[in-house]
Amino acid sequence: DQDTPVISVHPSRPVSKINPNIYAGFTEHMGRCIYGGIYEPGSPLADENGFRKDVLEALKELDIPVVRYPGGNFCATYHWLDGVGPKEQRPSRPELAWLGTETNQFGTDEFMKWCEVLGTEPYLCFNFGTGTLDEALGWLEYCNGTRNTYYANLRRKNGREEPYNVKYWALGNETWGPWQVEQATKESYAHKALQWAKALKLLDPSIVLILCGQDGTASWDYYTLNKCLLPAHSALSTSAVPLIDMHSIHMYTCSSEHLPNATAPRAAERAIEITSSLIDLARIENGVPSSQPRPTICFDEWNVWDPIRAEGSLGAEESYTLSDALAVAVWLNVFVRKSRDVGMACIAQSVNVISPLMTTKEKTIKQTTWWPLYLFSKFMRGSTITAHVACGTYEGETAPKWLRGTVDTPWLDVSATLGDDGFANLAVVNIHESQDFETTLEGVASNAQVFTVTGNGVAASNMKGEEEVGVKESVWNGAGKYVFPKLSLTLLRWKPE
Ligand code: AHR
Repeated sequence: DQDTPVISVHPSRPVSKINPNIYAGFTEHMGRCIYGGIYEPGSPLADENGFRKDVLEALKELDIPVVRYPGGNFCATYHWLDGVGPKEQRPSRPELAWLGTETNQFGTDEFMKWCEVLGTEPYLCFNFGTGTLDEALGWLEYCNGTRNTYYANLRRKNGREEPYNVKYWALGNETWGPWQVEQATKESYAHKALQWAKALKLLDPSIVLILCGQDGTASWDYYTLNKCLLPAHSALSTSAVPLIDMHSIHMYTCSSEHLPNATAPRAAERAIEITSSLIDLARIENGVPSSQPRPTICFDEWNVWDPIRAEGSLGAEESYTLSDALAVAVWLNVFVRKSRDVGMACIAQSVNVISPLMTTKEKTIKQTTWWPLYLFSKFMRGSTITAHVACGTYEGETAPKWLRGTVDTPWLDVSATLGDDGFANLAVVNIHESQDFETTLEGVASNAQVFTVTGNGVAASNMKGEEEVGVKESVWNGAGKYVFPKLSLTLLRWKPE
């Protein structure tokens, strides 16, 4: 019966471990993300490093495990050496991704320090545009070198004795894009990525190398995976360790209509399924032994973004609505449901640029999209567990169009977890604009804690001076049926018997 939905949750049936890195962040030298976002020396809100304390305090609430840096498209003309050493000697350069001037006042050591203060791990992206392999090796040595060698000593000279031990490194960003200063073909990229990977892993076999994919469904993805996922010790790669550990994909969703907007993230679920198949296919075709770890997906740019509607420089300062918050909640449900395949997901980006957190000179503002991110990061960890939903589906237009009929778009979008603390968590997004759903809940204990994110209509926003969308806490008395309000994210949390 479509009118009385049923959600059944099975805490004793785990599906897969959730990698905490699905709650990763991303800070790019773009717009006001670094300068005026996380770094603002001279501001009364800055600490002795020039880091905005209010931004750090807010981001700490998200318990972010990894942050990607320095881009994004910015990487394609970035020379890391410009951003280390005495600040007064660092050169200003024209910056070709966003057509600004890069002062290099914030560079590798500042980012590492910021990560330390935030309590997060760095993830760096190599310059595959104007950068050279030599430069990339130098950067890796600067960050991770322990011996008496030139770049390790340069790091010591710049005040950091211990290596930073940066684990995650990306082999370029969106190198397939026509916006790149030196756009690659899939053939040229696969060749270069493999050669760089060999050298980088010779220097430091412990790093995790991330291949640059497209949206996970493109011929680029098939080709590059096929050429680069090789057995260690093979004819094509004499490396003792696998060269590629993760495959990166990017996707932004958005629509001016609420329901296409809220259902669009389901496209990412389809992309993850296809990418995952391509990973398996490449391994089979190349004879990679099953003993060699299976690469996971690094969804290192995702969010709701429409550069046309977004205000501010570069079409990057989004003013998010309740509809967008629900879309972000659906995105996060996707990552939880697909936890077997997703090894990392970085919301693009962490501050000001396409971000749930905005700054003014005086304060930070938590946008509508902050709240789903906050709740998921706080509670939806541990293992994904089986959860079934039987309810009606939205049958109208979707964005992208192919979603309609390809993927189910139920009114109630659901995921569930069992945390390491023994608590079960159920996240339910009711995307319906006018209908509350009284729902039979099976497997949810009485006296569940309830967190609800909702607001007054799809256009509710926190950028008009008031917090129109926040989170409310309550307790459910467990009477068998729960009413999921229209336009809401509900997170129920309980200790299973
Ligand atoms: O996140 C903003 C930009 O979007 C990134 O720099 C780029 O990789 C993507 O196209």
